[in-house]
Amino acid sequence: MSGRTSRYPGFYRLPLEARVRWVAEQAGLTPEEQALLSNGGLTLEEADHLVENVIGRFALPFAVAVNFLINGREILIPMVIEEPSVVAALSHAARLARAGGGFHAGSDEPIMRGQIQVMDLPDLPAAARAIEEQIEAIRTTAEAATPSIVARGGGFRGLETILFPDTPAGPMLVVHLLYDVRDAMGANAVNTVCEAVAPLIARITGGRVVLRILSNLADRRRAWAEVRIPPEALETPDFPGDLVIQGILEAQALAEVDPYRAATHNKGIMNGIDAVALATGNDWRAIEAGAHAYAARNGQYRPLTRWWRDEGGALHGRIELPLAVGIVGGATQAHPLARVALKILGVSSARELAEIMAAVGLAQNLAALRALATEGIQRGHMELHARQIAMAAGAAGQEIDRIAQQLVAERNIRLARARELLQELRGSATGGFDQERAE
Ligand code: MEV
Repeated sequence: MSGRTSRYPGFYRLPLEARVRWVAEQAGLTPEEQALLSNGGLTLEEADHLVENVIGRFALPFAVAVNFLINGREILIPMVIEEPSVVAALSHAARLARAGGGFHAGSDEPIMRGQIQVMDLPDLPAAARAIEEQIEAIRTTAEAATPSIVARGGGFRGLETILFPDTPAGPMLVVHLLYDVRDAMGANAVNTVCEAVAPLIARITGGRVVLRILSNLADRRRAWAEVRIPPEALETPDFPGDLVIQGILEAQALAEVDPYRAATHNKGIMNGIDAVALATGNDWRAIEAGAHAYAARNGQYRPLTRWWRDEGGALHGRIELPLAVGIVGGATQAHPLARVALKILGVSSARELAEIMAAVGLAQNLAALRALATEGIQRGHMELHARQIAMAAGAAGQEIDRIAQQLVAERNIRLARARELLQELRGSATGGFDQERAE
């Protein structure tokens, strides 16, 4: 995005059409692509081809979070989400992160795991040894099943054998095929490979193959992101930066020791990650499954982020989680708006998308912890609620923000009051309230 920016103070105050124009300019969207944003993208016919028994379509808000600087690149974040405050909180956290140079993100090679379950084996270690000895034959069979992925530089990257001598169904062996899926999410490719290799595994071991399916615990395909924020950037009118950091560290400590809090902590992280997954046509259930299994990988369910204070007093954060996402195949290509979302992001690889999503998860967590450690999250919600009440009272255009702000300032978010304010506003010569709140 050289020459482009993701920074736009007051972006949320622009009328909707102006927001679209600015994003289109930054991302180079064509008029047709802009039109997709207002009509929802997917036609009824396209929907009918995606899944079975279609009777309609279901629209959700498509928003853009601003202010993101990730690995030195200005990035606008497309988000599909129904929950108020998430986009605003994310943009705010991304602005705070700029004070420390933005987010630094990285990722593993896009290697997925496929599982082949083998039963009826009298000697599990001997079967495992036989499989290891035939690794080249397994590679050849696997790669022959996905020539297009191999042509793009992906393919077989090895295998692991896992022995379960004692399960409710008796002893079993599981072969994990490690497969580089490049820019695809990879479920189809890995399932194809597992099914192609299964007869060979049965022949090698003399056992009976049951399951042949990818694992959503994609722990060889992690993405991570880090951020550093100086205390001054975290200061609020009511809280010095150091105290905000202390509150964030205390919140983090609770999530470390308490799965009840860790679940909510991680839910907030997934607010951001899922919204980008939806916007880009990725399988958010797969991402959720991988994230939560990874959070519990050491036996206790823990937070996906860590926060700490460095010697200079700045706040540091890091997130790490499996992110099996693609930019080719599936809905990433079948849904016209997913293609628009990928263009807004300006990504050219699945790894880059995963890195951005990791940074978004970290930013969302920062936003939640900062709010929880200071004024609580209801204030942000209150402002959005006030906007909805103002609209319900009949306010339009700039009236919405003015009335919403007044309702919040008066701490009286009620429809009757919104109606009074609207009358007052429309009746006044200056177009303002008597005691308007300074911004
Ligand atoms: C709400 O959707 C998410 C939060 O509860 C996350 C958190 O508590 O960290 C605000």
